[in-house]
Amino acid sequence: MYCTRNISDSVTWVGGTDRRLALFENLFPIPRGVSYNSYLITDDKTALIDTVDSSITRQFLENVEHTLNGRELDYLVVNHMEPDHCSNIEELLLRYPKMKLIGNAKTFQFIRQFYTCDLTDRTITVKEGDQVFLGHHTLSFYFAPMVHWPEVMVTYEESEQILFSADAFGSFGAINGNLFDDEVDFDRDWLPDARRYYCNIVGKYGPQVQAALKKLSALAIRTICPLHGVIWRKNLDYLLQKYDLWSRYEPEDRTVTFFYASMYGDTENVVNILASSLAEAGIKNITAYDVSSTHVSTLIAEAFRCSHLIFAAPTYNNGIYPAMLNLLTDMKALNLQNRTVALIENGSWAPSCARQMREILEGMKQMEILEPTVSIKSSMKEENLEALALLKDSIIGSLNG
Ligand code: FEO
Repeated sequence: MYCTRNISDSVTWVGGTDRRLALFENLFPIPRGVSYNSYLITDDKTALIDTVDSSITRQFLENVEHTLNGRELDYLVVNHMEPDHCSNIEELLLRYPKMKLIGNAKTFQFIRQFYTCDLTDRTITVKEGDQVFLGHHTLSFYFAPMVHWPEVMVTYEESEQILFSADAFGSFGAINGNLFDDEVDFDRDWLPDARRYYCNIVGKYGPQVQAALKKLSALAIRTICPLHGVIWRKNLDYLLQKYDLWSRYEPEDRTVTFFYASMYGDTENVVNILASSLAEAGIKNITAYDVSSTHVSTLIAEAFRCSHLIFAAPTYNNGIYPAMLNLLTDMKALNLQNRTVALIENGSWAPSCARQMREILEGMKQMEILEPTVSIKSSMKEENLEALALLKDSIIGSLNG
């Protein structure tokens, strides 16, 4: 049975939600599910903006058929060729034989790589700024390479001032009936997943997101329709501000988060002592994460959110404890930069992981490493208190600086 929502008299959400998928991209936990958004514009011509993941094909096809109400589908705009949005292209080509695909040169290269469908006379290749007229509605296409793949473009509909933004401005999380930003408590229920989605999926491409934001700033936009998560029609400035911060690698909050690994609780003990002393000194909203039991995508989101990151880990096989190494490697891969960091290491006979963590952090951009590094042997002792107090003062000095 169809399940759609109207965005306007002419634009209908025909997407759906998957609450059964455990790992998005077979990588990221999504306990709140995920939505795959698709939009159908009905005018003199009909145009579908992107499709959905194969997991919700049945729902999607029923939504499209119902909304078309017996009409032909004239166009399918392919803004993004990742399979969570394009898995139904072949099926639509079969069902709607007059339908033309609108994409750019790279779009069609990717379609031919993923699929074996016959595209003869079925394609319209657009360039930057090209337009397609549907009647009262006009679609304009703007390229947004690497937000999140190289072929990505966004589609702007000028009569209703709607931006179909592909992955940009999306979020993990199922649509639970409420589809619009003014129907949900975004800060409470959506922001952590929106941040985790951005940082892990698009975080590496900050300069490209900045370029896209600059390009889009020339457009009058009333509604943003992303491919995942809620549709924005009220607090657009809030969302644009978040994207601006994230893509410039600026922290949202000037505070401390601890990322620690601890095999028997001794390294965690050091973290607790330092965190408590910071709290005694008035530092608020400190967070701490066990890297062994917290998914790295959550750690990455926190690293993007906070200004001061403290890494504490035992030495393991003469190297960095594996879960900590995974976090640092991911941070580097995602281009995280412009943070203040500090290091705590543990080692029962040859502590060396601080040096190795430092090497990774020094290989990243604009990372300020606070001194001293605190090194303990097996467990925290009186003789370590002085170094820990110096590090506390260093963190406070930096936070207040
Ligand atoms: Fe939601 Fe890059 O695909």
